[in-house]
Amino acid sequence: MMETTTRTRSPHPQRVFVLGATGTIGRATVRALVRRGHDVVCFIRPRAGVGGALAPGDSAKLLAGAAVRTGDVTDPKSLAQDGFKGERYDALVSCLASRTGAPKDAWAIDHGAHLNALEAARRAGVSRFVLLSAICVQKPLLEFQRAKLAFEKALIESGMVYSIVRPTAFFKSLSGQIERVKQGKPFLVFGDGTLTACKPISDEDLADYLAECLDDESRANRVLPIGGPGDAITPRQQGERLFALLGRPPKFRHVPVAMLDAIVGVLGTAGRVLPALAEKAELARIGRYYATESMLVLNPNTGLYDPAATPSTGTETLFDFYEDLVKGAAAPERGDHAVF
Ligand SMILES: NC(=O)c1ccc[n+]([C@@H]2O[C@H](COP(=O)([O-])OP(=O)(O)OC[C@H]3O[C@@H](n4cnc5c(N)ncnc54)[C@H](OP(=O)(O)O)[C@@H]3O)[C@@H](O)[C@H]2O)c1
Repeated sequence: MMETTTRTRSPHPQRVFVLGATGTIGRATVRALVRRGHDVVCFIRPRAGVGGALAPGDSAKLLAGAAVRTGDVTDPKSLAQDGFKGERYDALVSCLASRTGAPKDAWAIDHGAHLNALEAARRAGVSRFVLLSAICVQKPLLEFQRAKLAFEKALIESGMVYSIVRPTAFFKSLSGQIERVKQGKPFLVFGDGTLTACKPISDEDLADYLAECLDDESRANRVLPIGGPGDAITPRQQGERLFALLGRPPKFRHVPVAMLDAIVGVLGTAGRVLPALAEKAELARIGRYYATESMLVLNPNTGLYDPAATPSTGTETLFDFYEDLVKGAAAPERGDHAVF
């Protein structure tokens, strides 16, 4: 199932308010919206980026072509006064998400801040809400997934026209081992490396897909799982391709899932006594989830992940991206949900 993407201008340029503009997908999405001719206003933190590395001037450079306003998305007053400023908007596009996935932050951002934004957007005349979510919420076992789902439900029930985009795995989440493999270390896999599969989607292809939601009526009031082009690939295939690109024989180290279970178990028990460890236990559960669950559409009847039922969009493949990285192109910014 292949979705079509166009990188052309929008036939109906709109005033678009963007949240999460400084994240990986947010940056690409702002570029896609600007390219399509929309009038884009980004609402960001005064210190943005991983570890707050970006001052407002840095963020403004990153988000060229868009207006940048700073404030606190968790504070309804700041959203109204510093963000929307009493102006009218046509659409809200959100790539906002907790950077850690830790339960408290996920509920504050993925759920709470989005509820604030929905209310503020309604008052600003917004009639369309495009939400970047995640395919993994279809099987919610983790707190951040429950937080995302709770907001998805609120958005669906709000009456606002919505497009809830649930992508598969991003390239950055599948590129964490390139440096260690380049150094001659083995590629780490859980089990035999074929426990899971995904259809990786590039930042730019996903950004185009999100931006196109504003013009494509077939994506109105829909929950949209979406992957990148080509067949689903396993971690083992990712490792094999990396070794081939480096011209070396494949070398894998197999990590038993039971080891993750033990870590989750110990931290889970200790976390009942020490709150700081409860958060670490949840992060270990996130690691276990990605080690054992595929990022593909789940068939509710069979309980199996179904690559054929997972729609594809775009043109950029993970293996082309690996080739660029091996040749020395800049590595992607990481820092969240990284298992390796
Ligand atoms: N990684 C994957 O493979 C994958 C796959 C499918 C779906 N997803 C989902 O895609 C979404 C976005 O991913 P991403 O990689 O683009 O995220 P990201 O790079 O971590 O960016 C998150 C964005 O949210 C903002 N944000 C976080 N906490 C905030 C706060 N307290 N106040 C204001 N802004 C805040 C960040 O702003 P700052 O720059 O100020 O921190 C940043 O702009 C997530 O929902 C994730 O679950 C990820």
